[in-house]
Amino acid sequence: MKYFKWFVIILSVILVSMITVSCGGKPVEPQEDDLQGPQVSQLSEEARACVACHATETHGVVEDWDKSRHAQEAVSCTDCHEAVPGSPMALKEVEGHEDLTIAVSMLVPPSRCAECHEDQAAQFDASGHYRAGLQYFEKESMQTLINVHEGQNHPELSDASDKTGCMQCHGSQIEVNETGHATVDSYPSSGIGNVYPNGEVGNCTVCHTRHSFDIAEARKPEACASCHLGPDHPDIEIYENSKHGQIYATEGETWVWDSSPGEWEPGDYRAPTCATCHMSGIGNLESTHNISARLYWNLWEPESTVRNSSDVMSGSYGDGEAGREMMEAVCSECHSTTFYTGFFKSGDDAVRLYNEAYYIPAEKMRAELAQKDLLGENPWTDEFQVLYYYLWHHEGRRTRQGAMMGGPDWAHWHGFFELQQDIYRMKEIYEQRIETGVIE
Ligand code: HEC
Ligand code: HEC
Ligand code: HEC
Ligand code: HEC
Ligand code: HEC
Ligand code: HEC
Ligand code: HEC
Ligand code: HEC
Repeated sequence: MKYFKWFVIILSVILVSMITVSCGGKPVEPQEDDLQGPQVSQLSEEARACVACHATETHGVVEDWDKSRHAQEAVSCTDCHEAVPGSPMALKEVEGHEDLTIAVSMLVPPSRCAECHEDQAAQFDASGHYRAGLQYFEKESMQTLINVHEGQNHPELSDASDKTGCMQCHGSQIEVNETGHATVDSYPSSGIGNVYPNGEVGNCTVCHTRHSFDIAEARKPEACASCHLGPDHPDIEIYENSKHGQIYATEGETWVWDSSPGEWEPGDYRAPTCATCHMSGIGNLESTHNISARLYWNLWEPESTVRNSSDVMSGSYGDGEAGREMMEAVCSECHSTTFYTGFFKSGDDAVRLYNEAYYIPAEKMRAELAQKDLLGENPWTDEFQVLYYYLWHHEGRRTRQGAMMGGPDWAHWHGFFELQQDIYRMKEIYEQRIETGVIE
């Protein structure tokens, strides 16, 4: 770290001298003797040009990169942004780029990262995150919700809710125009399952954001919180409600966050974060970018089943038994077997109660009403169908995820308590429709 500070100082000096030369500012004494830092001397001439000019054009980008592990390792702008000439993503007509001898792309698909981080990219492709965009782009029920109901069939603006909502968490189908720039209708997107113009899927910048690409950031719960929150998957709120979250909130700022991969262990921290349980190496467990690997149940589908599918597009994707074993291995680094066995028993019971006392009876009523033509045409104005949706998509998920991650307020007050309200009202509506044969 001490050396690194020096490199930064040296680089700053170089930058100032280069900028003033290339951008025509007030000249300063050139510091030729300082051009010795490995970080700078290892960069190609092209890369130095990017750094120098972008230090003023997009100052924040260069600052973030400059403090990153990548800069320390002499991984530079060109390593990620140099485009294969002829690629549809290669930029044309960028003011300032006239003298460049290489083609530059603004878009950096995961395969570029994979050139140096093959395992992480392969694990991402084998995770539920991979399907985040693909599973809703073509699905008719989702597109109807977005365009017909939320978009009110507006002739030009019906996809505004997608672009500012779904897409920013799930992903966008990025398109480029004739100059290689992403179109305004498809970009920017902070979604995790972006689809690039060359067909590649993913987004490596959501948890460790550009251009610092910092492992410490990704290990903190806030890295997941921008997507995993709200009424239908309140994972950050559940975490805050848990004992682990209490400990993180009281003392997390004093923990060690930047240990090397595989060496981040209890002692560096006292309680687990999202990453510890779902991703990081701990004890004998290897770190993984497959966030589905340590799961037993599917907790977002209408009915929870134990995971047992090798199809990444399937809700029951994963191997539940192996997942539970891995998750227990995480707990066992800090808790006894008696402790976590009891915890998982109570969580599993809550999931089963949800299935058996709520979802299955609700679905039985819904199917019968559908068969007797007693469901309203618009699912978003028919009280029975609205309650059915809330029962599994909001209340039911909160219950299950709260129970499995130690968040009692979500398992109970935002969970089971509301579930019983939903099912009682659904039963009333159901009985009335069956008795009268009409929709109220
Ligand atoms: C002489 C100045 C200069 C140099 C050298 C330079 N750039 Fe740029 N670059 C610019 C300017 C100006 C923009 C446009 C910024 C804007 O639109 O706000 C830009 C835009 C970009 C963009 C975003 C694309 C866009 O159109 O918005 C990327 C990515 C980029 N440059 C990367 C690079 C890389 C990589 C290099 C080195 C190979 C490089 N630049 C060298 C000045 C420069
Ligand atoms: C480790 C890979 C990596 C390195 C190194 C890197 N970038 Fe980027 N850069 C990215 C990614 C990823 C994006 C987001 C593009 C996307 O959405 O596909 C990006 C986006 C950008 C953008 C547009 C960002 C915005 O918010 O408008 C600019 C400009 C840019 N990079 C310039 C640079 C410059 C200059 C350097 C060198 C100082 C650099 N990059 C180094 C990966 C990198
Ligand atoms: C030219 C090779 C190269 C490319 C391309 C590259 N990286 Fe890296 N990256 C490295 C090296 C070298 C390190 C430091 C050693 C290590 O941790 O593996 C590193 C480290 C990292 C780290 C750990 C940082 C830390 O705080 O310890 C992350 C996260 C990362 N890279 C993400 C990315 C992402 C995302 C991309 C694509 C947008 C990318 N890298 C592209 C070479 C590369
Ligand atoms: C940019 C948004 C975003 C971020 C950030 C994000 N996720 Fe996700 N995550 C999603 C989306 C969207 C899904 C649903 C994917 C699907 O099933 O289509 C998901 C699904 C999951 C799942 C369930 C996977 C499955 O197989 O059902 C887990 C577990 C998960 N994420 C954990 C995490 C963790 C841990 C972090 C932080 C380290 C994180 N996520 C960060 C958007 C995000
Ligand atoms: C704030 C971020 C966010 C927004 C906005 C968002 N989602 Fe999600 N979505 C998620 C996360 C996180 C999950 C994963 C929940 C879990 O694993 O329990 C998810 C799960 C899903 C799933 C279930 C996963 C699967 O593979 O089928 C579907 C479908 C879905 N979202 C569609 C949408 C649609 C359509 C929209 C917009 C109308 C939308 N989402 C808006 C974050 C978001
Ligand atoms: C869901 C959040 C998330 C996404 C998406 C993500 N990462 Fe990571 N990344 C992390 C976390 C958390 C760590 C730290 C893991 C640990 O503690 O060992 C990490 C660490 C890394 C490291 C350091 C080495 C290691 O494995 O620990 C590299 C390199 C890396 N990520 C590359 C990538 C690449 C490439 C992609 C895209 C294919 C990507 N990441 C997408 C969360 C994410
Ligand atoms: C103490 C460990 C632990 C922590 C901390 C933790 N989780 Fe979990 N998470 C679990 C367990 C256990 C499950 C349920 C696994 C099973 O049995 O299916 C789960 C389930 C999930 C699911 C549901 C997947 C599905 O099938 O719908 C998501 C999404 C998720 N976690 C995201 C997060 C996020 C985001 C955070 C941080 C805000 C987080 N988790 C913190 C252990 C943890
Ligand atoms: C890094 C260590 C660590 C890991 C890993 C860890 N925990 Fe914890 N956990 C703690 C600490 C510390 C407490 C607070 C104990 C107290 O309340 O005095 C705690 C508290 C709890 C509590 C609240 C009940 C209580 O006695 O406080 C539950 C439930 C729990 N953990 C479950 C789990 C499960 C399940 C896993 C694995 C999925 C897990 N923990 C992984 C450290 C850890």
